[in-house]
Amino acid sequence: MQIEVLNHPLIQHKVTLMRKKETDSKDFRELLEEITMLMAYEITRDLPLEDIEIETPLQKMTGKQISGKKLVIVPILRAGLGMVQGMLNLMPMAKVGHIGLYRDPETKKPVEYYCKMPDIEGRDFIIVDPMLATGGSASAAITLLKQRGIKNIKFICLVAAPEGVQCLNREHPDVKIYAAALDDRLNENCYILPGLGDAGDRIFGTK
Ligand code: URA
Repeated sequence: MQIEVLNHPLIQHKVTLMRKKETDSKDFRELLEEITMLMAYEITRDLPLEDIEIETPLQKMTGKQISGKKLVIVPILRAGLGMVQGMLNLMPMAKVGHIGLYRDPETKKPVEYYCKMPDIEGRDFIIVDPMLATGGSASAAITLLKQRGIKNIKFICLVAAPEGVQCLNREHPDVKIYAAALDDRLNENCYILPGLGDAGDRIFGTK
């Protein structure tokens, strides 16, 4: 199974707080934003740098700056929205695209109802969705981006189920998956166990 679990102690601690059933929406949202920032820090280690000539108050020097790598963050609606601000905190120049998918109650397959992307030329894409459960929505979102000619795609989630990881590995072996935790399995309703419940409901206070 190909997945990188970002298990920094701060991430593990905060994921545990998110899992607790008594954690309310405000804390849940804040923790999700903080964890997303920590994950953004880890996944951007390979961003290319270039030299830049600057002047400190004392003398000239050659500094480093990120070499104009353009990024697009793509939340899968609706729970993915909870990870956007954490990404933007560290990458304020990134653009944000949106993908809306719902699951057809009959076929159980994801159906696109919304897609709005910025200019894609030369950009790297980071899809965000807190829960990688069956992998159906994630795979459909990746397919949608690929159909638009997008090649460099990473998938970032908070909690992954082995079933979802296997699905993405099979259908999109070129897409690297990052998670804060890899859980045990799905239950009969496709919820992740032990998981944290319905991420969208917990972010937005719905039921
Ligand atoms: N989506 C969620 O929000 N939670 C799960 O456990 C699975 C899918």
